[in-house]
Amino acid sequence: MKIIIILGIFLTSIANAGEHQIPTAPQKYLDMQNPIVKMDEQLLKITSRLYKRKCSKCHGKKGDGKGYHAENIEIKPAAFSIPDYMLNRKDGQLFWIMMNGSDDTEMVSVGPGTDIGLSEQQMWELITYLRKEFTK
Ligand code: HEC
Repeated sequence: MKIIIILGIFLTSIANAGEHQIPTAPQKYLDMQNPIVKMDEQLLKITSRLYKRKCSKCHGKKGDGKGYHAENIEIKPAAFSIPDYMLNRKDGQLFWIMMNGSDDTEMVSVGPGTDIGLSEQQMWELITYLRKEFTK
């Protein structure tokens, strides 16, 4: 009996891990427009550096979700470079996750007032950078 219960818990946890989906942002965020439409070379460089310092250990240098820290975490980082991934995400979705983090995952909020402390402007720049660099 005990074994069945333990097996049950084990199987459910596997199923749940497989089922995790990144939560969808509230409509208010999905409707947001990214104010950063164009970035010059200089700003791209700065933003690329910011990405490497703050994001790539999880999301990977190539945006494939395979940063060196990704191995250690159960719920894996989003892989921006999966074909069509960026095409299917709205900027407001990406912005919301960066602003609020994703509960029960290692994606913490990175916005104003947090440890990382990015400005809203920097978050939009990162989103434009992710699109430019990793869309496939
Ligand atoms: C410690 C690891 C870690 C770091 C560092 C990290 N992330 Fe994440 N990120 C994650 C994980 C894990 C998820 C997936 C969350 C989920 O599945 O609910 C995620 C999800 C996201 C998403 C959501 C994508 C979507 O489709 O909705 C965005 C956007 C994102 N991260 C951007 C960033 C940016 C930009 C940085 C750097 C400022 C960053 N992350 C730093 C782990 C990390």
